[in-house]
Amino acid sequence: MATQNSNSSKEEKGITRRNFLRAGIWTTLAVLAVETVGATIASMWPKAQSSAAGAKVRVGKATGFPIGSVTFFPEGKFFLAHVDSGFLAMSHVCTHLGCIVPWVADEKSEDKLAEKGRFNCPCHGGIYDRYGLVKAGPPLRPLDLYPITLNGDQLVVDTGILIRRQVYEESQAVKV
Ligand code: FES
Repeated sequence: MATQNSNSSKEEKGITRRNFLRAGIWTTLAVLAVETVGATIASMWPKAQSSAAGAKVRVGKATGFPIGSVTFFPEGKFFLAHVDSGFLAMSHVCTHLGCIVPWVADEKSEDKLAEKGRFNCPCHGGIYDRYGLVKAGPPLRPLDLYPITLNGDQLVVDTGILIRRQVYEESQAVKV
């Protein structure tokens, strides 16, 4: 009898342990399934933007930007250049390998609009003039453009559309 009780007790313990392990495995599988489904849904959703990239950015009145000026708009990550034929909104991303290109206002100009100012890429020495044209270094094409529209007297830049170009044409600049 004592042996039977002992066996029965071991069996109960064994079943309990087995049930515990089974429950643990099912719980682990359920957690993995939930995480997998969650990650899949998250990857299908557009990532939250930390800036206004992709948005339409109102930059102000054209009269606020004299010819030759280049102004950076950090919220849209673009430069607004007022050139002789109108306005250009240019991406700050180098067309070589994607480094961020700053405007250097006190460097010798590479165009005839002003004596100073050009874009110097810090990564491999790419240089662009205020039209975004490559003047030195490895980039093979000018800085990309964003379309500009007029809303009343306000210039609006659409950072959701990036325009690649190989050359500069006057028609790229928006006349106001
Ligand atoms: S990334 Fe700008 S020159 Fe290479």
